[in-house]
Amino acid sequence: MKVAIGSDHAGFELKAYLKDILEKEKQTIIDVGTESEDSVDYPDFGIRVARLVSEGHVDRGMLVCGTGVGMSITANKIRGVRAALVHDLFTAIQSRRHVDANVIVLGGRVTGKGLAAEMLKAWLAEPFQGGRHAARLEKIDKLEEECCKK
Ligand code: RB5
Repeated sequence: MKVAIGSDHAGFELKAYLKDILEKEKQTIIDVGTESEDSVDYPDFGIRVARLVSEGHVDRGMLVCGTGVGMSITANKIRGVRAALVHDLFTAIQSRRHVDANVIVLGGRVTGKGLAAEMLKAWLAEPFQGGRHAARLEKIDKLEEECCKK
């Protein structure tokens, strides 16, 4: 699987840790930065990952900032992106089964490395269930179309 990853300074350490895990799992990674704990603006990196997902250059995205909130708000502005901010394994798995989330968002100042790694691995492996859930996503797609016309 091809995965785009990005963070701000507050998510840098967790992103680096998870990047290592993705590499060990033989995933193809595009790391859009940031490259250190020097202060940066999370939207700059959130937009890059979200665009790569939206334009089909990668299969999935992963974003990390301090809380995950700013990154999830940013990514969900981009058409076709369904970014899920997760804090527990159940939510991570359900975000794939029911919502077909294509970006996982984590809080580097909130979630420990062990849990983050378990959530990421489970999220990558879990398929979308489709069916009635697909019909609900179509409603979101329609909303996006309406919003873009304005
Ligand atoms: C950066 O200080 C922090 O605001 C950012 O990482 C994130 O938590 C925003 O939602």
